[in-house]
Amino acid sequence: MLDEVVTVIGTPNIALTKYWGKRDEKLILPTNSSISLTFDENLATTSSVVFSKKLKEDRLFIDGKQLDLNEKEPKERFQIVDMMRSMAKTDAKVLVVSKNNFPASSGLASSASGLATLTYACSSALGLNLSKKDMTIMARQGSGSSCRSLLGGIVEWKKGERQDGSDSYAEQVVDEKYWPELIDVVAIVTREKKKVSSRSGMKQTVATSVLYKARLGYIEQANDRLRKAVRDRDFETLAEITMRDSNDMHAVMLDTYPPLTYMNDSSRVVLSMIHELNDTEGKTVGAYTFDAGPNAHVITLRKNVDRIAKMLGELEEVEQVLKVGQGGGPRVLKPKDALIGGDLAPI
Ligand code: DP6
Repeated sequence: MLDEVVTVIGTPNIALTKYWGKRDEKLILPTNSSISLTFDENLATTSSVVFSKKLKEDRLFIDGKQLDLNEKEPKERFQIVDMMRSMAKTDAKVLVVSKNNFPASSGLASSASGLATLTYACSSALGLNLSKKDMTIMARQGSGSSCRSLLGGIVEWKKGERQDGSDSYAEQVVDEKYWPELIDVVAIVTREKKKVSSRSGMKQTVATSVLYKARLGYIEQANDRLRKAVRDRDFETLAEITMRDSNDMHAVMLDTYPPLTYMNDSSRVVLSMIHELNDTEGKTVGAYTFDAGPNAHVITLRKNVDRIAKMLGELEEVEQVLKVGQGGGPRVLKPKDALIGGDLAPI
């Protein structure tokens, strides 16, 4: 409905098996399926959206700063708003105000939670009321990994086979109450922004890496095993698949020409620490995973969270440690929580 402010809160996700490469750049169709864990609201993005004929231009504010919608990245990601506008047959302009409860400079990906909340809020504000599945298809076209943030618990983004992307969507494997003991302990080792974006990095990998073929040859089997490990609450298997897939992705990154080096010496200190810990214990208590950046995510069970957080916190390489559980995906907030006022301006 025009002039109605809709506010949605949502969270990022961490991939246990990674998406790194597209088979279609425009529709954002991945070369492989990926499985992730959706965070709880300890790390969250709130987005308010309003479409109105009274607005003269589209405007987007993130953490109090207005973004230039003519710049490449915001422009590409904002295309999903145009798609939804045309579905609703309106040319009303939009105001989007988004706020993260974690510092944008923390090195943690806010684009997934940003796009998931944007999609959800636009669908509702325009009265499209898209199904969850259709929302994941929409969000995917803004940023691939964001589609997994539209659902809670453990989520799979199916790569799909069709050229039009209609079977490339996200689906829940289990909800957040199925295995709530599974927690992510995040170790922030740097707050710097990455030099090569995931978008351009993965494009270079697909174009140049000779090892990439081997990655695609094994990953769907890993996904089958991971889905089963989740359903069986089998931490040992989940942990091994998670660590090996992170290592595999970073191996093809290094095999990209020119090479992509997202992990750094601090990341490798965490990696070694986790293997040493698991060796000493004689069983797996933690599983690291790294995205396109040096910060470490250590997946563990609730009973080991404090111990692992303490060990990570004591490393001189680690600046901050966060404990994040699983969340239920985006939800609509009350009008009193809106980030847009009655005057159609950011609050
Ligand atoms: C390493 O979803 O940010 O985090 O689709 O081009 O927007 P685009 O890429 P993006 O890539 C995320 C890559 C990753 C792995 C993952 O989350 O699966």
